[in-house]
Amino acid sequence: MKHLLALAVTLWLVFLSGAAMADEGSCIGCHAGLPGKQGEESIAQWRDSIHHRHGVFCVSCHGGDPTLMTMEAMSPERGFVGVPEEGDVPAFCGRCHVGVEEDYHNSAHGQALGAGGPECVTCHGSHAVQIATIELINPQDCSRCHDYGRAGELRSAMEQTEIMIVDLEGELEKLHRHGVATDVLEGRLFALRNDFHRLLHSVDVDKVRRRTADFRLKLGDIQNEVDHHRAELGQRKLIGAGVVVLLLIASVLFGQLYRNYREQEEHARRRKNRN
Ligand code: HEC
Ligand code: HEC
Ligand code: HEC
Ligand code: HEC
Ligand code: HEC
Repeated sequence: MKHLLALAVTLWLVFLSGAAMADEGSCIGCHAGLPGKQGEESIAQWRDSIHHRHGVFCVSCHGGDPTLMTMEAMSPERGFVGVPEEGDVPAFCGRCHVGVEEDYHNSAHGQALGAGGPECVTCHGSHAVQIATIELINPQDCSRCHDYGRAGELRSAMEQTEIMIVDLEGELEKLHRHGVATDVLEGRLFALRNDFHRLLHSVDVDKVRRRTADFRLKLGDIQNEVDHHRAELGQRKLIGAGVVVLLLIASVLFGQLYRNYREQEEHARRRKNRN
């Protein structure tokens, strides 16, 4: 049974790496020879992106057939969708980020799409997409079209909760290193984190403030469980320390007994010698 499982896992890994090769395939094979944004620059940015790390390839976004080494790889018949027009970017990215696209469309930014409003690529880039953090809200990037005022308010409304999330991530990692099973808590925190980051796309300061109380409550629940685990770990350490102390005392006592015994034996021997 174990062997079958190992075999299945191995086959799956071989299949996955094969699939990965096929996805990289001709798109990168050919584009690597093209200059700048058409090729090497975009590929380098993508290789360093969160998408690359999660198996999102050229073909995942642009479509096409990565098994063909000719320009035919990019024919619409092969599912190639090419480069989106500015107004189509949210739907292009929203195929996978459904919730974000929804919040975005309902926002002041989404309403201004095509009329000076930012779309996904404006803030995240296309090939260089990195993990999203609150650092994306900064005076340089958010005052290109309007003053930083409301953007800054949005950031302060989110900041405290963001700090709670980052702290909890760190604490869970520590517990995990001490051998506590943290999968379930990590899953809950990850889902909360994503929902919270989604909220940003509403760019609605009042809404963020209203929803924040609810997020804090749920983060508080996770914090309680973390504290509970920590207390347990502390107790385990205390018990461990107690055992060590007992062992020490026992060994000192034993040493003392042994010495007494040897002394008595010595006395007995001397007495015997004298007789
Ligand atoms: C045989 C070489 C070759 C292969 C294979 C290839 N491309 Fe291209 N691709 C090109 C060239 C050359 C251009 C520039 C064409 C132009 O400017 O008209 C291009 C353009 C593009 C563009 C920009 C289109 C635009 O409208 O600006 C995208 C996106 C793209 N390719 C993605 C892909 C993907 C995804 C694959 C794999 C499924 C792929 N390519 C496979 C050579 C290739
Ligand atoms: C996460 C989705 C995504 C992935 C993955 C992706 N692209 Fe793109 N690509 C885009 C978007 C969006 C644009 C349009 C950029 C814009 O509007 O500024 C684009 C534009 C392009 C262009 C036109 C030149 C430019 O930069 O505007 C080429 C060529 C291209 N991509 C090739 C590739 C190749 C080759 C890969 C694989 C290494 C790839 N793309 C991976 C989303 C993606
Ligand atoms: C084929 C599906 C797919 C497409 C299309 C796609 N993404 Fe992603 N994206 C993913 C996956 C998978 C991840 C990594 C897992 C995660 O964090 O959700 C990711 C992660 C991200 C992250 C980081 C999220 C985080 O947790 O911090 C951002 C930002 C992002 N994508 C933006 C974009 C943008 C902008 C576009 C369009 C140019 C786009 N994505 C298109 C699948 C996709
Ligand atoms: C005005 C700039 C801006 C625009 C436009 C924008 N984003 Fe974001 N996005 C952000 C910021 C800032 C965060 C991080 C928020 C935080 O850390 O609390 C973020 C977070 C994310 C995340 C992570 C949330 C999660 O679920 O893990 C994804 C994915 C994402 N954006 C995708 C997109 C997509 C897709 C679009 C287009 C429909 C888009 N963004 C439009 C600024 C923007
Ligand atoms: C490409 C231009 C552009 C960029 C970049 C941009 N915005 Fe906006 N923003 C707009 C437009 C257009 C509106 C709607 C009209 C207005 O309220 O000024 C808007 C409105 C807003 C509002 C008011 C929403 C409301 O309901 O009152 C906030 C808050 C906001 N943006 C935050 C941000 C943040 C945060 C960033 C940086 C991550 C950012 N913006 C970057 C164009 C932009």
